[in-house]
Order: sequence, then structure tokens, then C-alpha cells
Amino acid sequence: MIDKFIVEFDKGLRTLFAPALSSRPHPGKNLDEVTLSDEQKQHALGLMRVNHCGEVCAQALYQGQALTARDPAAREALKEAAHEEVEHLAWTEQRIRELGGRTSVLNPLWYGGSLAIGVAAGLLGDRWNLGFLEETEHQVGAHLDSHLQSLPEEDGKSRAIVTQMRDDELRHADMAHALGAARLPLPVRQGMKLSSRLMTAASYRI
Ligand SMILES: [Fe+2]
Ligand SMILES: [Fe+2]
Repeated sequence: MIDKFIVEFDKGLRTLFAPALSSRPHPGKNLDEVTLSDEQKQHALGLMRVNHCGEVCAQALYQGQALTARDPAAREALKEAAHEEVEHLAWTEQRIRELGGRTSVLNPLWYGGSLAIGVAAGLLGDRWNLGFLEETEHQVGAHLDSHLQSLPEEDGKSRAIVTQMRDDELRHADMAHALGAARLPLPVRQGMKLSSRLMTAASYRI
């Protein structure tokens, strides 16, 4: 158990402080960089910072859940999805750099909170654990759709990343569903929406 915690602690530090790597090619990597107005750039940057922060939270959630999941099939599926989340982290991180910005200073805070939520969800048992995951991925998918409405039309590079992430998140939701996710009660779903709204409003700016 102690070994497990050391491994996970190390993962946490890497999520927060080391550059993430992607095995798949970065979406939009073959697209040319276009000139964006200052306003467009700042807006794209804010949205990509929100997405990066969301991916930091995804790392923590998956980590917390994988620590506590009982069913080996669920644990394996969580690990595989977590690997794709690392790629999302790498893509958003690089895009933020290309746009000339930096990641949110609040990331460690959200990471800690998400880890605690992930562990708690895992302790409730696999059906609730997966239910929480399915709902999270659905909400993130919807959120990414709204970013596709809002990102500058010209910013093909950011759009390609967000599109691929959206597709991956919806696949993660389907995976959780197929593994027997329970449907979360409405107040829990609403609470999750509220907390992600707080997170997005803050990390858009800082
Ligand atoms: Fe993701
Ligand atoms: Fe996901």
C-alpha cells in the first residue's frame, strides 16, 4: 500500500511540474499557425488554460479512482483512459505555450481537491465510481463543445485539439457506462456542474 502511494505521489508531482508526453501525434500539428488578433489570442489562451486545468483534474480523479477501484477490469479501463488524459495534458500544455501563455497557477489546488473526490468516489464502490466518471466525462464533453462554439474560427490548431479531446472524453463516458456505471442523483450532478463552473471561471483568468 505504501509503495502504491509513493507511485501515485510521484505521478502527482509529474502532472503538476513536469512536461507531459503524448504517444499520439498532437492534433492539428500539420496545420499552419495563423495570425490572431490580440483579443482572439487572449481568449483562445484563456480557454486552453481552462482545458489544461480540466486535464490536471482528470489526472487526479482517475488516479484517486484507480487507487480505490476494486474490479480489475475497471482498474485497467481507468488506467487506459488516464493515459489518454496525459496526452490531453500534453496537447493543451503545448498549445498554451504556442499562444504565448502559461498554465493556471491554481492547478495544484484543483489537483488536490480532485484527488480527494476521486478517492471518495472510489470508496463508494465501483458502480458509483464509474457513475461519477461517466458523468464527469459527459460534462467535460459538453463543455468542450461549448469551447468549439467560442474559440476563434481561425484558430484551427486549438480547435483540432479540443475536437479530439471531446471525442476521447465521450468514449471514456461510454467505457464507464459499459462497465456498469450507476446514474448519479440529480443534486450530485448539479453540484459537479457548479464546481466546474467555479474552476473554469478562475482558470480562464489566472
Ligand atoms: Fe481529457
Ligand atoms: Fe476523459
